[in-house]
Amino acid sequence: MRSVIDIKDLSTTELNELVAVAEDIIENPDKYAHKCDRKKLATLFFEPSTRTRLSFEAAMYELGGHVLSMSAAGSSSAAKGESVADTAKTVSCYADIIAMRHPKEGAPLVAAMNASIPVINAGDGGHNHPTQTLADLLTIHREKGRFDNLTIGLCGDLKFGRTVHSLISAMTRYSGIKFVLISPKELMIPSYVKKIIKEAGAECIETTDLAEYMPELDILYMTRVQRERFFNEEDYLRLKDSYILTPEKLTTAKANLSVMHPLPRVNEISVKVDDDPRACYFKQVLNGKYMRMALILKLLEVD
Ligand code: NCD
Repeated sequence: MRSVIDIKDLSTTELNELVAVAEDIIENPDKYAHKCDRKKLATLFFEPSTRTRLSFEAAMYELGGHVLSMSAAGSSSAAKGESVADTAKTVSCYADIIAMRHPKEGAPLVAAMNASIPVINAGDGGHNHPTQTLADLLTIHREKGRFDNLTIGLCGDLKFGRTVHSLISAMTRYSGIKFVLISPKELMIPSYVKKIIKEAGAECIETTDLAEYMPELDILYMTRVQRERFFNEEDYLRLKDSYILTPEKLTTAKANLSVMHPLPRVNEISVKVDDDPRACYFKQVLNGKYMRMALILKLLEVD
């Protein structure tokens, strides 16, 4: 029985296999329609979500399975003071697999240590978000046809943006990766993530200037400033519109740049960019469903 709490829980071979399975699901959906008949996924979301929870649920339905959904922490026994450990033990009695999102870093790990079924981290605080990275990887594979020799700009809230932390961790495994980390000084990448880059020997630049590096980028990964992780609203208001991508700013970019964003978007990308063929963020949404299907199959050990 295996859980996925951190993208590091999956080897590079396994990441590549998940991408291959997701691509097969896209080509042959009928082959997978009954793979999880009678299996149940429990989605335990203690934080807001649209895409992650619905894509997990859509993924399970498309595999023929069922879903038990707890979308509002206020409606569960957590509101009465139940621990994550007890919730995990309880849900193990009803379901075959859990996807959990929680505002506290490490909560899905605690759940995995106490559950008797696989637990998938669907986002823990400002820490990790491995299944968003799976969505991002499939998008990169489909857009670029490779994972190596890419210059990747990550822009916005690199401090609290958990999707950025997990994506960097995954991409450091491939060769010829150059990271351009673009953020306001206050929202620079945490030192533990920088250490991952350093240890992998990947090239890395930290800057506040998106325009300077725009012409170099193969991928531009925009992120939302994570209001819910700020200690004071004033700082949020000062920083929230630090980077706003517009069609004008994209004039110096490569013709085959891929603009990505985990969504939800607030102001970081003008809606005028949506019609640009380089905009990939709604493709990412769909790819997330296929990768979650592939991951559920893997963790439930369904052939
Ligand atoms: C992201 C998250 O929850 O971290 N959303 C998502 O799952 N696609 C990004 C965000 O909330 O900014």
